[in-house]
Amino acid sequence: MLDLNNKSILVTGATGSFGHKFVATILERYPKIKRLVVFSRDELKQHNMSLRFPKSQYPAIRYFLGDIRDKDRLYRAFEGIEIVIHAAALKQVPAAEYNPFEFIKTNVIGAENIINAAMDRGVQHVVALSTDKAAAPINLYGATKLCSDKLFTAANYAKGKRDIRFSVVRYGNVIGSRGSVVPFFLEKRKEGVLPITHPKMTRFNITLQEGVDLVLMALEKAWGGEIFVPKLPSYKIMDMAEAIGPDCEHPIVGIRPGEKIHEEMITETDALSTIEFDTYYVITPTAPVWDVEEYTKALDGQQVEEGFKYNSGTNTSWLSPEELRRIIKEHVDPTFELNP
Ligand SMILES: NC(=O)c1ccc[n+]([C@@H]2O[C@H](COP(=O)([O-])OP(=O)(O)OC[C@H]3O[C@@H](n4cnc5c(N)ncnc54)[C@H](OP(=O)(O)O)[C@@H]3O)[C@@H](O)[C@H]2O)c1
Repeated sequence: MLDLNNKSILVTGATGSFGHKFVATILERYPKIKRLVVFSRDELKQHNMSLRFPKSQYPAIRYFLGDIRDKDRLYRAFEGIEIVIHAAALKQVPAAEYNPFEFIKTNVIGAENIINAAMDRGVQHVVALSTDKAAAPINLYGATKLCSDKLFTAANYAKGKRDIRFSVVRYGNVIGSRGSVVPFFLEKRKEGVLPITHPKMTRFNITLQEGVDLVLMALEKAWGGEIFVPKLPSYKIMDMAEAIGPDCEHPIVGIRPGEKIHEEMITETDALSTIEFDTYYVITPTAPVWDVEEYTKALDGQQVEEGFKYNSGTNTSWLSPEELRRIIKEHVDPTFELNP
């Protein structure tokens, strides 16, 4: 049973959507946490966060300005830290296409800096967040996250005798996240028009809380070197349009640069090293860090069949428009009407 009381945790990108939810969850579930460091660049976001989580009420919380591109700052921030949750990233697909090296600096070089600082500062566990766009990437954002995933899994080969584990958690679209389809449709329905990129488009769906719980599960179960992939339902973009604006027009506007029709979290090639568990899959490290057979047995898993892939378009679990409405009301907009 995971117990984070008396632990010192640092969260990179803690002022973002995931970070906010993660910090709120930790403060609620582990009130005796020793130190909880919010690490990010923008002082205004940290100021706003400190209004919600003031130090006077949560003495464990620390606000630490810094950039993951800056090695020295990470070395300072990681002093006395036992667990690092790495959520900082640049993540807008179109921005990556126009500013590729900015993404490489943050998502790839930043990851390398986190690994080195964690190893040298005696951190014991690092969990890095990944995305479905990192599986067989077709855009630069996905490619940088795949590099980041590879760096974190490979760090387990380079750790020597250090007592440290590096793991990755990969999941799909967070419902309601900034720049995603739900806030876009909620805004556009005021005009009576929901533009559809491709009528066959599908996406995996996860809530922020599920993302946080998955990271906590990874902290509990990780042996180091795994990519954890949750079992998630998919939705069809046409069902999302039906859920949000059934009476709106749905013009087809074409897919955007770097977009896929279906997202994938485990490719057919990954399947060779993928183990299935009850609620999640694990892509095991390509070169062995530990005995995969022993791991599979110890955690009661099963090797997936040859040819398996985990794709939002061939998923067996689907959200209906009614279910999507309920999720939107519960996780995105409490004023959303269930019978529009
Ligand atoms: N949202 C999704 O649908 C989704 C899906 C799958 C995976 N993910 C992954 O989940 C993670 C968190 O995503 P999110 O939705 O919470 O993102 P977000 O809301 O955009 O937050 C990103 C955070 O990273 C910080 N940051 C960016 N560049 C930084 C740098 N160079 N140094 C330090 N901090 C930096 C930002 O704060 P400052 O700008 O103040 O520095 C912010 O706190 C990312 O790794 C993302 O790839 C997200």
